[in-house]
Amino acid sequence: MENMVVGEACHTVVCPSDRACIFTEVLRNIDTGIIILDLIKEEVFFKNYHAEKILKFIGAGYGFEDIASLMLNELAELKRPNVRRSSKTIVNCDHRSLGYTAYNLEGNQRYVAVFIQDITDQNRLEAIDEASEMMNNISYLFSGIRHEIGNPLNSMKMALTVVQNNFEKFTPEEFDVYMKRLFGDVYKMEALLKSFKNFNMFEKPKTAAVDLLDFFESLTQLIGADIRNKNIKITVDILPEARWAKVDTRALQHVAMNILANAMDALDGRRDAALKIKGEALNDIVMVSIIDNGCGMPEDLVKDVFKPFFTTKPHGTGLGLVISKKMLSQMNCGIDISSEKDIGTTVTLTMPRCAGADGRTTGLDPV
Ligand SMILES: Nc1ncnc2c1ncn2[C@@H]1O[C@H](COP(=O)(O)OP(=O)(O)OP(=O)(O)O)[C@@H](O)[C@H]1O
Ligand SMILES: [Mg+2]
Repeated sequence: MENMVVGEACHTVVCPSDRACIFTEVLRNIDTGIIILDLIKEEVFFKNYHAEKILKFIGAGYGFEDIASLMLNELAELKRPNVRRSSKTIVNCDHRSLGYTAYNLEGNQRYVAVFIQDITDQNRLEAIDEASEMMNNISYLFSGIRHEIGNPLNSMKMALTVVQNNFEKFTPEEFDVYMKRLFGDVYKMEALLKSFKNFNMFEKPKTAAVDLLDFFESLTQLIGADIRNKNIKITVDILPEARWAKVDTRALQHVAMNILANAMDALDGRRDAALKIKGEALNDIVMVSIIDNGCGMPEDLVKDVFKPFFTTKPHGTGLGLVISKKMLSQMNCGIDISSEKDIGTTVTLTMPRCAGADGRTTGLDPV
């Protein structure tokens, strides 16, 4: 099928009527890349002119294997029963962004249709939208800070008033109760201020080639005791082609620790708790997925996880992922979260891939 003529249906029965021929003609010439894959024969059933143009532009081959590897695990995802549509993925190449969506054809497990489009302009509009959303977030942030600092402050004021009014009468035990409450509030404010410090810590990240296999293996050793205590099975599987990324080690360490801490919280008390760290490469991008089979989240909760102060934990600040996202964006990296309630969560980090050990930085900072 490799030497198939571009835009030709490579199946003789594809044009049984004029009507089908007209449709095929439209599909051949439309301004969207269209590829139809035959999952049984593992070959390309159809691809149009625009699809070939895009594949050429991103330096990908035209065969089934080439396209399947371009889609990473999404093709495998589509082979699962009841999965109709795989999520859109972005490929960045030469300052252009390409998005693709893959569908299982209705009532047909054999063919998958892949639509590829240049979404650079769409991304730009989304970036503008994000900037205005950011302004909303800032006011949200201020009201959050007022609330987060205001609460312990009020509680401290009340405790101090009680202590002041009962200075003569209180027993040492009664004093102790109020002292503990005061310290508790002080610690809460301290933790919040520490999170703010992290927010500015990596304003100018120093990126260098980092060996991700080394990095994640060292990191999992670092949290090994916690993992053993919670009976979590952890695996690190970084493909050789996904081994090197251009990032700031300290910033990545901070981000990864927060994601792993979230996963460990989600795995608390779960049976067969497992944490997988998987690294795959896609052109000039490395994708590292941190997958847990913990409590997961319902859909309406997933969309809130990057909002400042959003937390479901009694002692969480709800800033972990906000700060992580900011650090990542400063290193030209991205983060995406998908989750299913009671099934688990996958956090995917995308990072610029680099060729190898040039300027190698592997060691981890002490935590
Ligand atoms: N792997 C996960 N599984 C389930 N829920 C998660 C996962 N990761 C994040 N969340 C949800 O997203 C929320 C926000 O996470 P984030 O790391 O920003 O803050 P936090 O963990 O609550 O607080 P902090 O990071 O300050 O300790 C969490 O409270 C939790 O509800
Ligand atoms: Mg967290």
